[in-house]
Amino acid sequence: MSHPPAHPPFRILISRDQILRRTHELARQIVADAGDNPLCLVVVIEGARTFARQLQKVLPGHLPLHEVRASSYGASTVSSGRVTLTIAADLPFRGRDVLLLEDIVDTGRTIASLREHFLGQGARSCRTATLLSKPSRRVVELELEYVGFEIPDEFVLGFGMDLDGRYRELPDVVVYEAEVERAFQQASAAS
Ligand code: PRP
Repeated sequence: MSHPPAHPPFRILISRDQILRRTHELARQIVADAGDNPLCLVVVIEGARTFARQLQKVLPGHLPLHEVRASSYGASTVSSGRVTLTIAADLPFRGRDVLLLEDIVDTGRTIASLREHFLGQGARSCRTATLLSKPSRRVVELELEYVGFEIPDEFVLGFGMDLDGRYRELPDVVVYEAEVERAFQQASAAS
């Protein structure tokens, strides 16, 4: 007996296999750059957890993942540019090489704020590994050391990324389309 699909047939932009292969490549670059200094891995929750766990698996030494929260204020689609950071007081980053782990860099404000915080408070260095980057949306100029994929300005979901808490569990990075979702919901309701 075949089961109905559990989610709308969104268009796959980057498959899970592509992500896993790319994560290995990024890990090799990260290890080569890190030398003998153990990195302090800092995950920007929520969306980056899936990518961070994948990277943690393929980096040597099973380094701990430290979580931080960053929220932008303003209307839901237009950020005001202010970023509020929530960082545990005992996060052990002083004197260390911090590696920020992100799912996506859009305007760049979140990463810029985090870099400023960690470098200002005594990290030895602060680099970024992001699964996705949308260069066309950047308002803050910044260097991203490790980028999985550059993507166009499309609303993406899956592999940890959500829409109001939904679709984080999708294995691939997909493009959200409201019509596809609506048609799926109507078909599900009718069956
Ligand atoms: C996303 C992403 C980054 C931020 C990037 O988080 O995880 O943290 O936006 O945007 P920026 O480059 O414009 O600053 P989101 O606000 O969607 O929160 P979530 O990860 O908890 O879903």
